[in-house]
Amino acid sequence: MMFKIAPSILAADFSRLGEEIKKAEAAGADMIHLDIMDGHFVPNISFGAALSKMSKSVTNLPHDGHLMVTDPENYVEDLTAIGIEYITFHLEIGGRKTDLGKNRWVYEIDKKPDSKRINNILESIKDKGKKCGLTLNPPTEFEAVKPFLGDIDLLLLMSVNPGFAGQKFIPSVYEKLELANIYRKERGLNFEIMVDGGVGMDNAEKLVSLGADILVSGSSFFTSPEFQEYIRQLKS
Ligand code: DX5
Ligand code: ZN
Repeated sequence: MMFKIAPSILAADFSRLGEEIKKAEAAGADMIHLDIMDGHFVPNISFGAALSKMSKSVTNLPHDGHLMVTDPENYVEDLTAIGIEYITFHLEIGGRKTDLGKNRWVYEIDKKPDSKRINNILESIKDKGKKCGLTLNPPTEFEAVKPFLGDIDLLLLMSVNPGFAGQKFIPSVYEKLELANIYRKERGLNFEIMVDGGVGMDNAEKLVSLGADILVSGSSFFTSPEFQEYIRQLKS
């Protein structure tokens, strides 16, 4: 199967993070997925530009910054300056917060995405010569991102409510992925499709067959005893 694997270092052993990243590269990972959180858009705080810079310094792999933040505008400058190749932010910015209980929440679109703001941020990323992406939380319909698909390099479909590694895969992403892949073909568009959250041995094949180009893998990658073997199995 032809697809790329992007380990999410959120699930790595932070006490030896540089080593983990180098090991991922040596094992054949295709890119490094950076889960940047602000404790506001999602119910957790992870890391920002400083740690992303460290990752850039230990590997030559491309990096994709997944901004789970309320104000992506504040991060574009720093992340592009350190050379992060893909910058992705959420279509739900400026939207409404849905309480999920137990101190968890997810942002949803409030009527319509904030097109003007979203286009400005996409432009600011492209102006810096970087690839830009948009991401959809599980409750967001594929329909909502259609107007932006001609302007992005990457469509990131969340298969968990973002904030934490190690959550259970939400199968409704299959349908969204299928719709995105069909639409891309019909319109002759070139954006790549990435799926993120709870991805592993039991769903990788189906995701790729439905059109995913890049699979993010956090806990299933970093808890596997041997990264190279994990990648070999996933790709076979
Ligand atoms: C969720 C993050 C994901 C997560 C993936 O908030 O966006 O990238 O770290 O980890 P797993 O693969 O463990 O779900
Ligand atoms: Zn992510």
